[in-house]
Amino acid sequence: MREPPSATPPGPAAAAWPARLLGIARELAQRVVLPTVLNEAKRPRHPLDIATRLVGLPFELAHHLRAAQQREQRRRRATEGLADPGSDFVFALHASELRDGERRVLTLGGQQVAVFRIEGRFYATGTACPHTAGPVAEGDLAGTELTCPWHGWRFDVPTGACLTVAGERLKTFPVKTVADQVLVRVA
Ligand code: FES
Repeated sequence: MREPPSATPPGPAAAAWPARLLGIARELAQRVVLPTVLNEAKRPRHPLDIATRLVGLPFELAHHLRAAQQREQRRRRATEGLADPGSDFVFALHASELRDGERRVLTLGGQQVAVFRIEGRFYATGTACPHTAGPVAEGDLAGTELTCPWHGWRFDVPTGACLTVAGERLKTFPVKTVADQVLVRVA
């Protein structure tokens, strides 16, 4: 008789979840539960004080849980920033965070970078217009054409070429995607 097909093993993301939950639970125990218990045990309190504390405890726990989740997200993002070891590319954002025609201004490697998604491809430019440093990344985007809101200079986002004044150029940065990660080389 033929053996039934074995279940698909969980992917790395699914396998990492128990470890993450365990980490958050351990952090809560160390940061909140243990110090609270020790603190309360040290000094006698008025019953009303204890009751107030008990009522507020769920809110306090929720606050700490949220903070622990945010720390975990920041740690994960920092780790993802090293997802391409040995190269100068740094993590900018997840591809799914931008829809076509959208952009986001980020600080990468200590400088302001605008990441654009245009027809499924990602591009990165500087945010200062080469004319008089206007906020070009806030300008209107039509296809790949970006118009500076201050004096109307137009730029081709993929190349940075100025379409208004020949020879002028908007700074651009190399971009690549690895799985869902958009990486930018700012060095
Ligand atoms: S500052 Fe951008 S066109 Fe003048």
